Amino acid sequence: MSAGRFHYKSREELAADIERLGLTREIPLSEEFSVLKTPRTVGDSDVTLKNSLTVHPMEGFDSTPEGAPGELTLRRIRRMASGGAGLIWAEATSVTEDGRTNRGQLWISRNNLDAFKRMAETAHEASDGAPVILQLTHSGRFSKPDNTPRPVIAVHNPVMNEKMSIDPDWPVVTDAYLDALPEIFGQAAGLAKEAGFDGADVKCCHKYLFSELLSAYDRPGRYGGSFENRTRLFLDSIRAAAVHRSRDFVIASRFGPYEHIPYPWGFGADRNDPEKIDWDEPDRLYRLMYENGVRLCDMTLGSPYYNPHVNRPYDLGGYEPPEERLTGVARLLGAAAHMKKTVPGITLIGTGYTWLRQFAPCAAAAQVGAGSVDAAGFGRMAFAYPDFARDILEKGALDPHKVCVTCSKCTAIMRKMHATGCPIRDREVYLPMYRELFPQG
Ligand SMILES: Cc1cc2nc3c(=O)[nH]c(=O)nc-3n(C[C@H](O)[C@H](O)[C@H](O)COP(=O)(O)O)c2cc1C
Repeated sequence: MSAGRFHYKSREELAADIERLGLTREIPLSEEFSVLKTPRTVGDSDVTLKNSLTVHPMEGFDSTPEGAPGELTLRRIRRMASGGAGLIWAEATSVTEDGRTNRGQLWISRNNLDAFKRMAETAHEASDGAPVILQLTHSGRFSKPDNTPRPVIAVHNPVMNEKMSIDPDWPVVTDAYLDALPEIFGQAAGLAKEAGFDGADVKCCHKYLFSELLSAYDRPGRYGGSFENRTRLFLDSIRAAAVHRSRDFVIASRFGPYEHIPYPWGFGADRNDPEKIDWDEPDRLYRLMYENGVRLCDMTLGSPYYNPHVNRPYDLGGYEPPEERLTGVARLLGAAAHMKKTVPGITLIGTGYTWLRQFAPCAAAAQVGAGSVDAAGFGRMAFAYPDFARDILEKGALDPHKVCVTCSKCTAIMRKMHATGCPIRDREVYLPMYRELFPQG
């Protein structure tokens, strides 16, 4: 039994549980945090992570209806950027109106570029020079541009359709629609550069449009069937974005090599055992990402809509995870180490640390120290404890009273398409919102 919601009182207790589960190789712990202070330069650019701790993209659903960063968006990026992390990966930003997950998702366009300039400026001022990457996305089957489902489906997927109550007769998006997207991603990357960001992320994970296409085995035409077809749109979009690549602007990707969804409905799963990763296609794609200009990757696994326990191990959530939390942590760390070996030239940010609470730096330092990742990324921890990086680097410890308790309340608020944050540690702003949405607690 994992310590779960009672959590570990000491590092020794955590180490004993790791040992009990036979995961000592996958989750080593280190007390030597100074390795996390090392700056990292991305490829041959001038973009340099100030240290080896980063903030993952974390959206708050609080844009203006037109997609510009709102007051809470700026508050969030300022808080996260001022916490001492070496790089800030700004949240999911749609490149089209119909690809927004809701009316509160950022949407970049020429019309609101000044607001994105303010966002980049706010982050840079607060971060004291840490680079800021903007995540560009099309939400595909999760699109709800006017807060009602208007899925842009690349391929019908019974597993996902059932989860999302999508009608099997809902039309599949046309090749002509997809053909137009690389140019749109390219333009959005250009806008991100003009706004002052240090890089653009062509997102391909979590079952959003590009990652859904990776397993579009049954789609006819140019975007389905073969590996070349299924990866075409993602790679074409990377190439279009890479036109803007320069010494001060890198091409990045939030990439999920494995969705933990059975073949043929998910990418990266062993055909006979969905619990296992078949690295053949993910490795091929990751190498092609490099060949086409990607030099920075924030890796992730699973789909937060389908199997959130794979994406972000939690104590409390929509369901009791069907595995030990540490098994999930080990999967995330192991996948990152594999990717780093496959393409050492991509600066790689790993994930899977937040659930470890105040012991997260022990795992982060071990992974960075071993060269398994270049940096450790934190998502929910950055919502709860925006100063996490400064405390690790300067005080050598995280305060157990400030860490994220992985209660999934931030996600619960988000699923109501409401502006979100941490109702536990940032209670002044988000507890009243949570109480209003969940009066029963
Ligand atoms: C409220 C919330 C918002 C998120 N927003 C994004 C996002 O905009 N883009 C993205 O790629 N991942 C997003 N994620 C996933 C996180 O970036 C991260 O992968 C996940 O939380 C696991 O990291 P952690 O264990 O450090 O929290 C979000 C997760 C949560 C809980």
